Amino acid sequence: MSQTQASSRYLRFTLAQRIEHLVMMLSFATLALTGLPQKFPLSEISQSIVKILGGIESVRQIHHVAAIVMMFGVIYHILAVGYKLFVLRLRPTMVPTLKDIKDAWQAFLYNLGLAKTYPQMGRYTFEEKMEYWAFVWGAIIMGQTGFMMWNPITTARLLPGEFIPAAKAAHGGEALLAVLAIIIWHMYGVHVRRFNKAMWTGYLSEEEMLHEHPLELADRKAGLDKPQLDPLVLRRRRAIYFPIAAFLAVLMLGGVYFFVFAEETALAAASPVETVPVYAPRTPTPSPTPTLAVSPEAPLTWNGAIGVLFQQKCGLCHGAGSFTGLSLDTYANAMAGGKNGVVILPGKSAESPLILQQEKGGHPGQFSSQELEMLRAWIDAGAPEK
Ligand code: HEC
Repeated sequence: MSQTQASSRYLRFTLAQRIEHLVMMLSFATLALTGLPQKFPLSEISQSIVKILGGIESVRQIHHVAAIVMMFGVIYHILAVGYKLFVLRLRPTMVPTLKDIKDAWQAFLYNLGLAKTYPQMGRYTFEEKMEYWAFVWGAIIMGQTGFMMWNPITTARLLPGEFIPAAKAAHGGEALLAVLAIIIWHMYGVHVRRFNKAMWTGYLSEEEMLHEHPLELADRKAGLDKPQLDPLVLRRRRAIYFPIAAFLAVLMLGGVYFFVFAEETALAAASPVETVPVYAPRTPTPSPTPTLAVSPEAPLTWNGAIGVLFQQKCGLCHGAGSFTGLSLDTYANAMAGGKNGVVILPGKSAESPLILQQEKGGHPGQFSSQELEMLRAWIDAGAPEK
């Protein structure tokens, strides 16, 4: 590369900023990949993702690890911004100003052919600021609602229980918003309109600077971007900032520790043999990966193995007075069937709708093949109660 070309490149993102972006990008993508299948558990794509990743339990585990990585990223970012603002006294270039509103309006008119020129912008355009603050907003919402779902018992001590399903709804809704914003807004602005590689290479060419950040270019040519700092002043400010940053870091890391270890998830906390009335979700929730819920030696009767099996594997949605129309909580209810009639035909497992449905697969609650075998044997033995 010739000298003139090299000198007309402008550093836009430092290596540290690029690494930070990469970490955030990977954790965001992982959160989306493991989160959306939980929001849409009935879709086939979701079910294959869950299967590939080793079941809903490991999907949740990966989701939690990615969330912790993102929390570390946020903490790093807060401390780095603090350093820039307090020690280096850089201008807060991400803060929205009146000019951003004017720029947005002018860009809007320009796109409609009603303004002659596109707005001239500085270090961060109004679009970049919107994306940044959308991320800040998203992180606050996702952090809060994520905490409430991760720690439902702690949450229910402080707030009414309804806040937990509300948090779940908000978490999923905000997630969808964030993913769509990245796909539509970010993809278009950064990859489609002009393929912007600055987040990888760190640099923009003079032409690109002139095109997208002309005011910043002017500042940099005038030498205004690098305020001269007295080394003594710098040292004094660092001496103040570093202890404060260390204190804040300990505080925030403590917060993450509390977030993660305050309690186990409700799933892990509820003993599998305990029978407690459970909240029947109005929104579908993926059910645990099938495992044998009862001892293989338990007698093949409703009061033996079978009733427990239904309670364990189907009780979440097919409890007493189930919204699905089919209650599998008692022998009488199970035999009575659902809104389409009887689902268990004693002596005829191959014709019982419940067995046919389970063999087909894809139901939100699925028996394992071993359990299905037990069920067939029970039905063929006449589906005895005791
Ligand atoms: C996450 C919730 C959920 C779980 C868990 C669940 N189901 Fe269902 N099930 C439903 C819903 C919702 C319907 C109603 C679907 C419809 O009307 O199309 C349904 C319908 C059915 C039906 C058809 C009922 C009828 O009236 O025709 C059968 C049979 C059934 N489920 C069996 C089971 C079995 C067996 C299990 C346990 C292995 C189970 N389900 C677990 C949500 C669930």
